This record gives sequence, structure tokens and C-alpha cells, in this order.
Amino acid sequence: MIVMRSQEGLRRALADLSGTLGFVPTMGALHEGHLSLVTRARSENGGCAVSLFVNPLQFDDAADYEAYPDTEAADLGLLEAAGVDVVLVGNKDDLYPPGFATRVDLTGVTDGGEGGQRPGHFQGVCTVVAKLFGLFWPQRAYFGWKDMQQLCVIRRLVKDLSMPIELVPCEIVREADGLALSSRNRRLDASERAAAPRLYRGLCAARELWHGGERAAAALVQRVFEELGENFPGDYVEVRDTTDYALVHDPVEHGRIVAAARLGATRLLDNVSLS
Ligand code: PAJ
Repeated sequence: MIVMRSQEGLRRALADLSGTLGFVPTMGALHEGHLSLVTRARSENGGCAVSLFVNPLQFDDAADYEAYPDTEAADLGLLEAAGVDVVLVGNKDDLYPPGFATRVDLTGVTDGGEGGQRPGHFQGVCTVVAKLFGLFWPQRAYFGWKDMQQLCVIRRLVKDLSMPIELVPCEIVREADGLALSSRNRRLDASERAAAPRLYRGLCAARELWHGGERAAAALVQRVFEELGENFPGDYVEVRDTTDYALVHDPVEHGRIVAAARLGATRLLDNVSLS
């Protein structure tokens, strides 16, 4: 595995790979969720590349950025074991040198959801992803349903800017009790960790209602809030379209139920497919 610590030489390292390139952008602190994307990229392409970069542009809260876990040595070990060919360990001075002035901003699909809760977040995500796509120029890029709005935003970006990149959405990897894997889970204390699976349980209960014939979005949303209860406040619970992230209105025949909720200082994000 080749580990690059700057853009310099990256293209040469990639040029030595044969066949299609599968690319997985990450912010490190890797877990089985990230690794499922890497394994899939590995199996579907001749070459596999990963970026590890905690992108300052996408954090609306400086403390959140500073607190982001740095587990680089462990991450590189996991990527090597997964058979990755090339890793870029991003560095902000290299990727955003003095004079860097471009911002990639989308409208519509970034409204509401995480875009509503975290001003500037998707501008930061789109700017770094556009830059990473320019650096790696992969045939395929792998993103998790875990961040459903991000997936829809990047799909829009790729389409609007005519980038010849196929986006491959990957299903959410969970703990045995249903909690979606996330680097944020390590911030939960024991009682918060015990409460956390209620988010997925609520989403599953709402999906059960839907399977039973309920087609009113408000009833599905209400079911999730019931399961969360008082000390697990939901920031939002919505039914969203899987392509353009538009709100799905009654009768709800498709989409995913998306929820963000707070346990103490930690925000958890999850969704399930209505299918
Ligand atoms: P990060 O949070 O590290 O996530 C990297 C990728 O892993 C994303 O596509 C995310 O949806 C996926 N992922 C995270 N948890 C998952 C899980 N439990 N199951 C399946 N996939 C999961 O998302 C980002 O980084 C950044 O915004 C990035 C795109 C790298 C731009 O900085």
C-alpha cells in the first residue's frame, strides 16, 4: 500500500494501477462501516484508493473539529489489511494552501436536514469532495446511506458538473443492537450508549407501520418520536426521497425515514429504507 501525505506524486502512484479505480473518501477514525465501502470498492475495481482527511471546511463548530478522533496508525493498518492500493493522508496546508478561494455550493438538495442544522456544512463537503474527485479522478466512488443527504448532494454535484464518476451507495453497517456505526459513538457514555439503539428501533417501528399500510408521513414520524422518548430529543424526523432528498408527501409510497437526535452532546443520525 502506498501512503501519500501530499498531492505531489499522487497521480503517478495512481497511474501505476490498472483497470478502473474505486475511491472511498473518509475522515479517518475508521470502523466496519467505512471498511464495508473499502471492501466493495476493492472487489469491484482494478485499483482501490482511500483518503483520510478531517476536512475543516465542513465543521460549523471549531470544538467539534478539534475533538475529531485521530487514529491514523490504526486506520492505515486496517486499510493495508483490506488490500487498499493507495491512501492519501490529507493535510490542510497542502489541500488548502494560502490563496485557496473556491467554494462549491449547491442549492435545493442542501436545504433542510443536516444542511438546515449545520450552516456551511455541505459547502465544505462539496468543496473537498470536488477537490478529491479532481485529484483521484476515479471511475467509481463509494458513499454510505448512513449520510443520506450527503449522498444525494454528491449525486447532484456529479451530475451538474458532468463528472464521469459512478456513485455507489452502500447500506448502513450496524452494531448487533442496531446502532449505526459512527465515529461519534465513542463519545457516548455508558447510559447514552444503552439508550442509543432506540433511534434505530424507532425507525424500524415506523417502517413496520408502513409495511402494515400506514401511508401518512406524520404517523410514521410520530412513531419514531414515541420510541425516542423525552431524554433523547429528535432534531428532525422526516421521510425523504432517495434521489433528490425532497420531502415525500402523503401518501408515502417510497423513500427513507431519516432521523437525527441528540443524546447529551452527541448527535446521532440514522435512516431506514421504506421497501
Ligand atoms: P466519514 O464520516 O468518515 O464517512 C466516510 C464514508 O463512510 C461516508 O460515505 C459515510 O456515509 C460512510 N459511513 C459512515 N458510517 C457508516 C456506516 N455505519 N455504514 C456504512 N457507511 C458508513 O462522510 C464523510 O466522512 C465526509 O463528509 C467526506 C465525504 C469524507 C468528506 O469530507
